Formats: sequence, C-alpha cells, structure tokens
Amino acid sequence: MENKNNVQNINIIGAGLAGLSAAITLAEHNIPSNLFSLQPSERAQSVLAEGGINGALNTMGEEDAPQYHREDTLRAGVYLADEEAVRGLTEEAPQIIRDLERLGVAFNTQNNEILLRNFGGQKKKRTAYARSSTGKIIMTALIDEARRYEARGLITRYPHHELVSLLLAGESEKICCGVLMRNTYTTRLRGFAGPVILAIGGMNGVFPELTTGTTSNSGDALAQMFAQGVRLGNLEMIQYHPTTIGISGKRCLVTEAARGEGGRLYVMRNGERWYFMEEKYPELKNLMPRDVVSREMYFVRQDPACGDQVYLDLTGLAEEVWRKRLPDLRAELLHYLSLDPKTDPIPVEPGIHYFMGGIDVDREHRTNIAHLYAAGECCDQYHGANRLGGNSMLGAIYGGRVAARTVAASIPELAGDQLQELFCNADLHEEIRNQYAQEASPQIILEIRDILVPAMAIVRSEQSLKSAEEKLARLLEREGLHEREKHRIYLAQAMVASAMFRRESRGAHYREDYPQRDDQFCGLTQAELTQGTDIHMQITCRSGSRQIRETS
Ligand code: FUM
Repeated sequence: MENKNNVQNINIIGAGLAGLSAAITLAEHNIPSNLFSLQPSERAQSVLAEGGINGALNTMGEEDAPQYHREDTLRAGVYLADEEAVRGLTEEAPQIIRDLERLGVAFNTQNNEILLRNFGGQKKKRTAYARSSTGKIIMTALIDEARRYEARGLITRYPHHELVSLLLAGESEKICCGVLMRNTYTTRLRGFAGPVILAIGGMNGVFPELTTGTTSNSGDALAQMFAQGVRLGNLEMIQYHPTTIGISGKRCLVTEAARGEGGRLYVMRNGERWYFMEEKYPELKNLMPRDVVSREMYFVRQDPACGDQVYLDLTGLAEEVWRKRLPDLRAELLHYLSLDPKTDPIPVEPGIHYFMGGIDVDREHRTNIAHLYAAGECCDQYHGANRLGGNSMLGAIYGGRVAARTVAASIPELAGDQLQELFCNADLHEEIRNQYAQEASPQIILEIRDILVPAMAIVRSEQSLKSAEEKLARLLEREGLHEREKHRIYLAQAMVASAMFRRESRGAHYREDYPQRDDQFCGLTQAELTQGTDIHMQITCRSGSRQIRETS
C-alpha cells in the first residue's frame, strides 16, 4: 500500500498491550509500523493481567471523576509521578474503556452498563473487568484490530524477533536511526531503518522463579538499551504483589480482585486468626495500596506472636461472585493448589509483580535519544513509587497511544531520507553484531538474581545494598563474560545504586535505616551509563537536577 507520509515504517519492539496500542494508533494516522516481538502477542505478558482496568466511568453511582482517579494514582505513587502525565492518563481512561468495549471486549455489565469493582488504593469503584481474565480478553480484541490493519499493509508483524541493538548515529547528541533485530528461528540478523518505540515490558527475567510475569521479558533488551546510553529512572521501585502462590518455578497471581470482592488477609496470632489489615487500616482495610499490604505481611511474619504464613480468606464470597466475577480464579486455585477457596484458606506470599521504573521518558514518551520512544511497563511514567492495581493495562494502552501520537507529530521533521541515510552509515560491524547476539548464561542470570534479591527486597538497608554492590563489582571482573552478561550486570548495578541513593522510604522502596519519607528525595532517580574506555554511571535527582553519584 502507498505510504502517504513517505517515511520508513516505525519500528515497535514488543507486541503486548503497549506495542499493539502504538501500532494501532499509528495505523489510524495512516503510518505503517513493524511490530516485533519475541513471542506472538497471544503469549505476551499482558495476557496474564487479571483483575481489570481503571477509568472513572462513574457507572456505579459513586460520583467518580478523572480528578479522583488522578488523586488516587498520585497518592499511591507517593507523589513521584508527573502530575500532568497522570492527568492525561486519567482523563482519557473512560474513553479507552469505551473504545475497548467498541472493539468487542466483553466487560462484565448489568443493564448495559459496565460494572466496576473495588481495587486497592482507590476510594471509588472504578476498575472495569472481564471476569478474572481481563488482560486476555482485551488482548484478543486488540490483536484482532491489529490484524485488520495488517490486512491493509499498515502493520507488519515480526514474531520471534529479538532486539539485538539500537542503531545510533551522532556523537554527543545521539540519534536513533533504526534497530538491529535477530530472527530467533533462523538466527538471521537484519537492520530496520526508522524511529523506534520500545514496548519491551518489565524486567521479570532478572528475577526468574520469583515473579508473576513472564521471564521472556528477560531484561536483556533493557540492559542493552542502558548500555547504549538510554537513560533509566526509578529502578528501585519494584512492586511486590501481596497475594501470589508458588507453582512450578514461578509465582502465580491471586488477583487483587479477590480482595476487591471481599477477600481478607489473616495470620495466626496466639492461636487465633488476626485480620491485621482490617485492624491497622480501618478505612481501606485489605485494599490498601500493594506496597503497604506487602510490607505489613512482611512485618507480621517477623512478629514472634504470629505464625509464618499469611492466608487469604475467600470463604465469605457470594456464590454469584465465584460464578460471574472470579470463575477463573477458583479454577486456578483448585488446579494448582488443590484448594477450594469457597472452603479453604489460601496461603499467599508477596511476589515480584511490576516495575514502576524503567526507561526514562518525558510526557510525550520521548527518551533521551532522538527518535527513540518508550511505552508500557518498560518506561518510568505514571506510577511513581507504587502502581495502583488496574492502572497497568491503562498505562500501557495510553502510553502506546501517546508515543504513537508523538511519532506522528514528528513525521514532518523526518521528511526526506535523513534516518535512512544515517541508517546506511550505522555501524553494523559483524563482530559487534555477533557479540550482541550471544545469550547470557543461565548461571549468570541466577547469580545476578541471587545477589539482587536480598538487596531489592520489600525491606532494604544500606548493608544489604552495599553487599550487593560489592558482589556485582566482583562478578563484573570475572573472566570470559560477554557483552550481554556485562550489560545485565550494569543494569543490576543501576538498580542497586538507585536504591542506595534513595535514603528515604517511599512507596515500594522501604529502607529500614531510613524508615521515613523525606521530600528532598521527591524526584526521579536517573541512571545513565556512558560507554567508552571508562564505564561511567551517574544518578541524578530530577527535582533538583542534583548529581548524586558517579562511578567509573
Ligand atoms: O491483581 C491483579 O489482578 C493485578 C492487576 C494489576 O496488576 O493491575
């Protein structure tokens, strides 16, 4: 089909919600894109999202409005998120849900109105849901929509393609002129010219076996971006979801919707059930933001009067809730734990669920490199120090839209063959390509994980962070490491450095040595690695543009 804008296809890396949303939005602007992904969209992390998507639809007569959604989002993120960005997110949310409905998403409804459920940290019912498989159902609709545009030549899908490296031009001001991809079936490397939108998801693969997310989001792509000079932000902000269960080498989510529908957390104390969240937080009870719930679970387990296991009590849920709102959850618990939540308490533990930090983007989703954008969980916009449940799919869809609109608006700047020319001159040296294409060894991945876990835990301290810093420095000196392995270590170092810098407790980042919030840290920890003969890292605080730390 004719490309009226006379620009190369936009390269979107990642075909989950954010990537699909960006591709569809570009197609609506008649701009073609290449949609690359390691796995087909059907297997993206977004498919696992269960509980719902937030938007102040106000269908439950609660006098909700985007303003209240914005306030809840900012408060849960302990004021690290950019207020204007969150304003955009929350104002567009109701329209996004209506658009999804129009595309065929079968939200739970009553009298033709979308039903909303309670979710953590929110004072109104504003989470629209499709039973307890909201992610799968939304993804199915967006995949269908993308296929419509594919048939018109506006989206070209490249499943089983892995990001190898960005193709960069320029000296002090870098320009992204394309991307080098590897077909994981044929191992063939191929360069694609044009602007790039990164929608590469979270860093679950940095924490294999300990995360609810898919470890196909290995963290390699983010590590590669970091090594190539892409600035990262708020890496210390890792969300532990309070209610997960362990199943064959992974953490499986027990959706927050279970507490939204009336589930209660308890621990045995002196032989009796103690519903600790209800006693400690009488207003929101079991639906406090996730950081608070996970931390309280940690604290009760330290209490010598309490047992070591926290349980989720779902026995009081009405039959209709199981039938219409959480059918998949009951099936999952019966299948994996042989426990019937109608009668049995469910043993739960916090598990690594979401990364609020990632690629540092501005409100238009630009990174620090020209013609490089990022959206979805891989970027640090919207969620601050802690994300609200139900804001993740929203952030991914909205972020994909914003990134695509920014690209569309910048098309006139790209007139002519500027990027194509830079692309043709980019360094595609065979040796470099091959180095980047090597896999990190499973052993190194596990070593890095085991160093990070105690340091980036629910409760952190200078001592545990220092120990991780030393171990990572030693690991980096090991002989025979290849580029990918080194990049993973740099990323881990940046996480630890970010957590060390933030000498306060805020949201998901709790330091037992600095247990109070301290507003001189009310900013973004930014990490940048500049490559040369020396490796150089600096962390700055956005609020004061202060350089906090430098390593070489
Ligand atoms: O608990 C959940 O259903 C998770 C939702 C989310 O992370 O947004």
